[in-house]
Amino acid sequence: MSSEIAAKPGRKPAKPEAKGKAPHGPKYALGESRVFVGDSRELLRSVPECKSGSVDLIFADPPFNWSRDYDRLKTGETWDDRSMSDGEYLGFTRAWLDGCVDALTPTGSMWVNIPDDWAAEIVVHLKSKRMHMVNWCVWHYRFGQNTTSRFINSKVHALYFSKHPAKRTWNPDEVLEMSDRAAIYGDERTFNKKDGVAAGMRVPMDVWYGQYWGRIQGNNKERRANHDNQLPEVYLERVIRATSNPGDLVLDPFLGSGTTGVVAHALKRRFIGFEFSPANAKSAFERIGLGMVRSGGVRGMSTAIFPNRRKSEPDKARIGKKPAGA
Ligand SMILES: C[S@@+](CC[C@H](N)C(=O)[O-])C[C@H]1O[C@@H](n2cnc3c(N)ncnc32)[C@H](O)[C@@H]1O
Repeated sequence: MSSEIAAKPGRKPAKPEAKGKAPHGPKYALGESRVFVGDSRELLRSVPECKSGSVDLIFADPPFNWSRDYDRLKTGETWDDRSMSDGEYLGFTRAWLDGCVDALTPTGSMWVNIPDDWAAEIVVHLKSKRMHMVNWCVWHYRFGQNTTSRFINSKVHALYFSKHPAKRTWNPDEVLEMSDRAAIYGDERTFNKKDGVAAGMRVPMDVWYGQYWGRIQGNNKERRANHDNQLPEVYLERVIRATSNPGDLVLDPFLGSGTTGVVAHALKRRFIGFEFSPANAKSAFERIGLGMVRSGGVRGMSTAIFPNRRKSEPDKARIGKKPAGA
């Protein structure tokens, strides 16, 4: 269990700090976390840290042009997710992608959460901008939209790019999980391996699933009211721990319910979030003040999908230790 618990559920939300109407200034701030209201394409060109290429890590979960309702509170001041032709949507996508590439430091990393429809176009565009694909991860969830005329969709792509081909922040020890060898097979080899990773553990695979990895729906403890597209905390925790360090500057150009900000703030990163809808921005900022619901709760857990096939329980004292030969 992580000791970096930012706030206990039930804590009162932080009071939004009014920042006035300074051009391009943040609407809300709490410590090193700031939330801006506006179109991310413009903010990426005007916020000083973006203009100067000082952002260490970007996580972007853009609108998908899927007629999502970003106006559940009926404020009328929200992003219209249904008006763009495919060509317009691609133009919009390329504009914010380019802004993100420019905002990164020379060793920065960027993640894009995107469904099947547009993943290929985004990969091609980022490669054309000389970004390097590190992983094409898949977030797999068990409750997709039910369909009978084709296979049920149960995934979104998590595209991981770095600006430099070799130099990037990578903290595998922060995100290890129990290996299947330890969790279900009781295979001795996991205690003698020489890959530098703790015994019985492994770097997670590139398909992400497991307990707490489902879509945030229904009475899920993490759920924020009036948000249609909330990502689970574990997803952002893996991304932020593995690909940034405490004190780094993390940016989310499509803040939504605020998941990236909540996790970045709790893990002591500096944070900037952009959100078009004033109501979403306010709600996201309040959530940043409340902190994570599941901080560190699933770190190190096995994601094995088979029942235990061991003859005996694993020796817990050996798991997580550096193997003798490492
Ligand atoms: C898919 S949701 C993000 C969900 C978020 N990852 C979460 O966990 O809650 C996309 C968000 O981007 C916002 N948005 C859409 N277009 C925008 C734009 N051009 N600039 C800034 N925000 C935008 C929408 O209002 C919506 O809240």
